[in-house]
Amino acid sequence: MKQLYTQHCAECHGAERLGGMGPALLPGNLGRLKMEEARQVIAEGRPATQMPGFAQQLSAEEITLLADLAFTAPEEMPDWTLEDMRASQLVPHPAGSLPDKPAFEADMMNLFIVVELGDNHATLLDGDRFEPIHRFATRFALHGGPKYSADGRYVYFASRDGWISKFDIYNLKTVAEIRAGINTRNLAVSPDGRYVLVGNYLPHSLVILDGRNLDPLQVIPVRDEEGNSSRVSAVYTAPPRNSFIAALKDLTEVWEIQYPQATDSGTPEFSLRRIRLDDYLDDFFFDPEYRHLMGAARNAKNGQVVDLDAGRKVDDLDLDGMPHLGSGITFEYEGRRVLATPHLKKSEVSVIDLTTWKTIRRIETLGPGFFMRSHENSPYAWVDVFFGPHKDAMHVIDKRSLEIIKTLRPEPGRTAAHVEFTRDGSHALVSLWEMDGALMVFDAKTLEEVKRLPMRKPSGKYNVWNKTRYSEGTSH
Ligand code: HEC
Repeated sequence: MKQLYTQHCAECHGAERLGGMGPALLPGNLGRLKMEEARQVIAEGRPATQMPGFAQQLSAEEITLLADLAFTAPEEMPDWTLEDMRASQLVPHPAGSLPDKPAFEADMMNLFIVVELGDNHATLLDGDRFEPIHRFATRFALHGGPKYSADGRYVYFASRDGWISKFDIYNLKTVAEIRAGINTRNLAVSPDGRYVLVGNYLPHSLVILDGRNLDPLQVIPVRDEEGNSSRVSAVYTAPPRNSFIAALKDLTEVWEIQYPQATDSGTPEFSLRRIRLDDYLDDFFFDPEYRHLMGAARNAKNGQVVDLDAGRKVDDLDLDGMPHLGSGITFEYEGRRVLATPHLKKSEVSVIDLTTWKTIRRIETLGPGFFMRSHENSPYAWVDVFFGPHKDAMHVIDKRSLEIIKTLRPEPGRTAAHVEFTRDGSHALVSLWEMDGALMVFDAKTLEEVKRLPMRKPSGKYNVWNKTRYSEGTSH
């Protein structure tokens, strides 16, 4: 089997299956690909990509063996060192080498990046006219949402195979790239754009990059004090704290990584603070001041509230059914600040009072949801029904009554998901999450569709203003 692989596949997927021109073929890197689909891809190839079909050269048994191989973990956990990263780095346009003025005219703070997972592209969209400005190829299988620099000029992408790309929106060019891991979850950028933190599943590490040309600065192995290692489930930026926060999958700890102030000179020093918990927490939401972290674990019965200053748990949250806290939003309800979150395993949206930490409302939905969004200027919050027979539905909730006031079904039978508002909150953009899908633009007041742009399985869309200003209606 190994020999078959070396002969036919290694050239593109790497001798150790860690990837190369083609993606890594390791269990954690295959996403939702099923065994049957893997066999089909190997036999028939994938149209419009460089993946050839092997049905003429290989027997059905051989194809099955190779598909099995892709779903088998390697015997030794592969490492990915600073030297490996440096060898992968590409800097076609070093920092400072391109003009500081945008090459096109638009409201630069009302742009969107729309990720098109279907053919590994991204579209830069004008948020006033809803016209694409530029469409460009990304690395294979982007993961975890792109992040902007605070001035909105640069956007950073992470791919499942660990590629970090920095794209200059003003000049419409990828300016630097580096492979920071073998299987990566997401990245976070410090508000001053000086540091990028990458969280990996494989190897078990955090990687700090210099924000300018993505030079790797430091690898932090993720281990507890007994030496047990862990995957990183997500990393976040906590601007008021001058720190990054890391959620760990296999340790009952939360990590805070302090980065040096902009005024500090010399070799940057990053300090690590461990907050010990009594349970696993791998999905977070922060209150607007970044004082408290609300966390949930995939397998736990309840969520927890952690006081980040005190470094300890201060309360429990009544949240089962896998809340997707990473997509939660906050708003004012009857004079108090609340958090609303969908659940990945339960047909409801939970609303939690951010002062008492009590669940004050459970809004019943047509199925589990993935993404929830609102905007300061809109009375409505939108939540998708990502899983189950009602995946074509999109609920609109009135934030004043906490009632669903309308359920949209833009294309019956086809997935409608992931909402993001324009800078002024006047329009809501929704994905028709299908291979021959579309970006659908809704008037956020009348809830009527006003425009539709065809796209290849559009997933997330990210508004520069809402993301860089930490709008209460969107995740960060
Ligand atoms: C000429 C280069 C090339 C060769 C040779 C090649 N592949 Fe691929 N393969 C690719 C590329 C590129 C992709 C990604 C296609 C895409 O964009 O969807 C891919 C995708 C795949 C996928 C789907 C991965 C996913 O996550 O969706 C599987 C499985 C796969 N290849 C297995 C194999 C096997 C097994 C062999 C050897 C029999 C092989 N490939 C040979 C380039 C190649």
